[in-house]
Order: sequence, then C-alpha cells, then structure tokens
Amino acid sequence: MNTQHNLSSRIPTRSPDTPPTLGIRNSTEGYGLIAIALHWIVALIVVGLFGLGVWMTGLTYYDDWYRRAPDLHKGIGTLLFLIMILRVVWRATNVAPDDESGISPLQLQAAHLVHLLLYLLLFVLMSSGYLISTADGRSIDVFGLFSLPAIVTDIPNQEDIAGAVHWYLALSLIGLAVLHALAALKHHFINRDRTLKKMLGIPPQPTDQP
Ligand code: HEM
Repeated sequence: MNTQHNLSSRIPTRSPDTPPTLGIRNSTEGYGLIAIALHWIVALIVVGLFGLGVWMTGLTYYDDWYRRAPDLHKGIGTLLFLIMILRVVWRATNVAPDDESGISPLQLQAAHLVHLLLYLLLFVLMSSGYLISTADGRSIDVFGLFSLPAIVTDIPNQEDIAGAVHWYLALSLIGLAVLHALAALKHHFINRDRTLKKMLGIPPQPTDQP
C-alpha cells in the first residue's frame, strides 16, 4: 500500500483557482477584516459627524434637537477617538499590503502623505472638539457610559479659538477625504487595479490585471 499517497490525499489543498479567504489580519496581498471594518466605520462616522455638525449649528434654542444634537455629536466624536486609537494600534501591529504595481513612486508618496494627513487631521479635529466642549469646565458625558473630564480650561478665548480650528479642520478633512475617495475610484475605474478591491475585501481573481 502506498502510505504517502493515502496521507497526502487526506490533506485538504486549495486549488490555484480558489480565491484566498479574507483573514482577520492584513497580509501582503490585502487588508484583513478588522482594518476594512475600521476604515469604513470611521469613513461613515466622519461623514455623519460632519453633516450633524453643520446641521446642529443652524438650530435655535426652541428646536427639539438644540441640546440633543450637540450631545450626540460629542458622544460619537469621543467614541470615534477610541476607535481611532484602536485603528492606529492595529495599523502599527499589522503588515501594510503591497502597493499595486504600475503606480509611480511620486503617486505612491502622495497617497501615503494623504493617509498620514487624514490620520493627523482627525486627531487634531477631535482634540479641538474636546477643547470647545470642556472650555467652560464641564465634562463630556458619553451616552451615560462614562464622562471625559475637563482638563484644559485656561486658554484665553478657548471656546472661540478651538471652534474656529474645529470648523476649518473639518472642512479640510472632508476636502481631503473627497480627494482620497476620487483617487480610489480612479484606480478602480481607470487604472483597473486592486486598490479599492483590497479595501472592500474582494479577493484576487484569476481575471485581475497582473
Ligand atoms: C471620510 C472618510 C475617509 C477617511 C478618513 C479615510 C481614511 C483612510 C486612511 C487613513 C487610509 C490608509 C489606511 C492605512 O494605511 O492603514 C485609507 C485607505 C484607503 N481608503 Fe479611505 N478614507 C475615507 C473614505 C474613503 C472612501 C469614500 C473610499 C472609496 C471611495 C476610500 C478608499 C480607500 C482605499 C481604496 C484605501 C486603500 C489605499 C491603498 O491601499 O493604497 N476611503 N483611507
């Protein structure tokens, strides 16, 4: 009896045509489930918070949402901060997927700079939001789960300065995110590479461009 043949026939092997499944962690071939989930959750929250922020500044004292909208904005903003900490830790402890071939070094550098700026803008934006909300010494209540104490309260005109910084950074972040999304769509529809597919968790197909 050929034992070697019997043993190897019992080991399940993946046919070269079977696409690899999506892992929890990143690989050099693409982003993993956690990085993908974090990316799209953050994207959704950023757009939602921007819309909510613009809408709530137009509310008057007599509107039902006059107090509830800012509470929601602050609560979600604080949760976003925690999610972003998790994202940075996950990013630092995972490999970055390989860049697509055929993209010029300058374009790659620009893309990486935009990613870095998106992270930085988000953190400064959230910090300025914290400084507006806590300028009067009141802590931020996060949906009754916990509260964030007011630590810095003595900057002159803190609320106004932090408010202006918050508004202009929010505009810059949305502008940069639109640019970033357009670049992703260009890669998908014009270059026809896997840049967007990697962030959507679509595994490589035999029909993909090399
Ligand atoms: C408002 C929201 C968004 C923010 C803050 C954001 C932020 C980021 C960041 C920081 C990265 C780098 C990830 C890393 O290196 O770990 C990234 C990657 C990526 N994002 Fe976004 N993003 C947003 C919206 C979008 C949208 C709307 C699209 C698609 C239309 C998109 C498509 C992508 C793709 C394809 C990558 C991977 C790029 C690559 O591998 O070179 N993003 N995003």
